[in-house]
Amino acid sequence: MSDLSRPSGPRIIAVANQKGGVGKTTTTINLASALVETGLRVLVVDLDPQGNASTGLGIEASDRVFTTYDLLIGETALQDVIRATEIEDLGIVPATVDLSSADIELIANERRSFLLHDALRQTEMDEYDWDYVLIDCPPSLNLLTVNAMIASHSVLIPLQSEFFALEGVSQLMMTIREVRQTANADLRIEGIVLTMYDKRNNLSQQVEQDARDNLGDLVFETKIPRNVRVSEAPSYALPVIQYDPNSQGAIAYRALANELVNKHQRLAA
Ligand SMILES: Nc1ncnc2c1ncn2[C@@H]1O[C@H](COP(=O)(O)OP(=O)(O)OP(=O)(O)O)[C@@H](O)[C@H]1O
Ligand SMILES: [Mg+2]
Repeated sequence: MSDLSRPSGPRIIAVANQKGGVGKTTTTINLASALVETGLRVLVVDLDPQGNASTGLGIEASDRVFTTYDLLIGETALQDVIRATEIEDLGIVPATVDLSSADIELIANERRSFLLHDALRQTEMDEYDWDYVLIDCPPSLNLLTVNAMIASHSVLIPLQSEFFALEGVSQLMMTIREVRQTANADLRIEGIVLTMYDKRNNLSQQVEQDARDNLGDLVFETKIPRNVRVSEAPSYALPVIQYDPNSQGAIAYRALANELVNKHQRLAA
């Protein structure tokens, strides 16, 4: 991507929705690898103590010596916390359960909400020349997610195409507004992406209609279909683009990456 569109470092995107199991991790991993496929350099930050993004990108739990927790604390060299993956130009900061106590352990730290912001803006980061940083958030609006929102330029919201999908989005929007008012005035909504979409199911169509009626242009054109290859890929420690490049899931995540990059290029032009 041209420097025009990112005058100061990578575009940082929090992938967030406090609802569990809506496709945050799947979207983080697969959007990242689709962006890499277009020639970009992408860092995934696993900000979820469950560590699913780390597992999905092939960093085994036993192999996670330095983690996002160390990145937040800021006492470990970046080269130790940023790990290479099997995919060139795709890096990851892995997570372990130790991240789950961050809320408590950081309570006395005055900058506790800004730790990820500061970590991602340290000058040593420039050497990596990332185009995008994607942050996989936990299913909660806790200190970790707030850190992600303060660190980011935008929030990408996966929305599962099922009943009650839109419930919770207003709460998420409220949190985004609060973060704007207090700490990150420029935080944008990158977009809402419909996940696990089943075109034969009326409910999926209904959710799409509701989302487009209520959220308008914020909803990405691209929908991610429910696709078994997508759900199989993590057990092979690969994004679906590598696991099955021609699957419907791989095709959809490529389309999402293109839509995202095109939007940024349009905005920068
Ligand atoms: N497009 C898809 N097709 C089929 N299965 C999918 C798809 N997207 C996600 N899944 C499956 O749905 C489950 C939840 O997805 P995922 O882990 O990405 O959600 P999450 O929002 O990160 O969950 P959590 O809130 O626990 O972090 C996983 O088993 C995943 O493999
Ligand atoms: Mg997840």
